Amino acid sequence: MDIIEAIYSRKSIRGYKPDPIPKETLAKVLEAAIRAPSGTNSQAWEITVVTGEALDNIKRGNIEMLASGAEPNPDVDLEPFSGVYRQRQIDLAIQIFKLMGITREDKEKRNAWFQKGYRFFDAPAAIILYADRSVSEARTQFDLGLIAQNICLAAFHYGLGTCIEQQGILYPDVVRKFTGIPESKRITISIAIGYPDWDFPANKLVSAREPLENVVTWCDYE
Ligand SMILES: Cc1cc2nc3c(=O)[nH]c(=O)nc-3n(C[C@H](O)[C@H](O)[C@H](O)COP(=O)(O)O)c2cc1C
Repeated sequence: MDIIEAIYSRKSIRGYKPDPIPKETLAKVLEAAIRAPSGTNSQAWEITVVTGEALDNIKRGNIEMLASGAEPNPDVDLEPFSGVYRQRQIDLAIQIFKLMGITREDKEKRNAWFQKGYRFFDAPAAIILYADRSVSEARTQFDLGLIAQNICLAAFHYGLGTCIEQQGILYPDVVRKFTGIPESKRITISIAIGYPDWDFPANKLVSAREPLENVVTWCDYE
């Protein structure tokens, strides 16, 4: 598949078919993904792929934490957005709720949608990305970002949809409990993965981008 076509076509998938993903397919995705660059080739990324009972337990555990009103305590710094960045977050939610037919007043449906995120959007598998705490958070955030995008693009090649998700790892102790990831590792991000349900309304979303001229500065170019 053409790289540019893949970059333009990938999008976050928030509705999945229940079909399991063959382990060989996931292995091919991850084999390609670990070709990502990393600072001084440190490759400080570690990956756990979760499905079946373990994933069910994490989904249940996350929802229980959420329902109990427990404050999220992620291993990584996830300060709330402000200003224009917060506005883009709101705009995204408005677009998704519109597609899903969820009104502003419908607290029940909004809550149900929120919970779906903590259940990895009911994907049949989830990928947890983490790194050893001996490597700085700044370094590993960057390199895990690169491998995350590689995973999403390689998955797309194999007909799989993905959604990079912080919601899945906001209660890292739940993830630890059912995966065995030790405390010495910083759980950084998760990726929901599975075959897209193209009839699912939120999957119709094509997210907006700022025009190029608003984000690029050309130096010494005419
Ligand atoms: C670091 C990171 C965390 C994210 N966390 C979530 C999340 O918790 N829930 C969610 O629905 N989407 C999440 N996303 C997906 C973004 O909302 C999505 O990438 C963005 O809206 C652009 O849309 P696109 O991926 O379809 O191009 C996350 C993406 C990134 C890169």
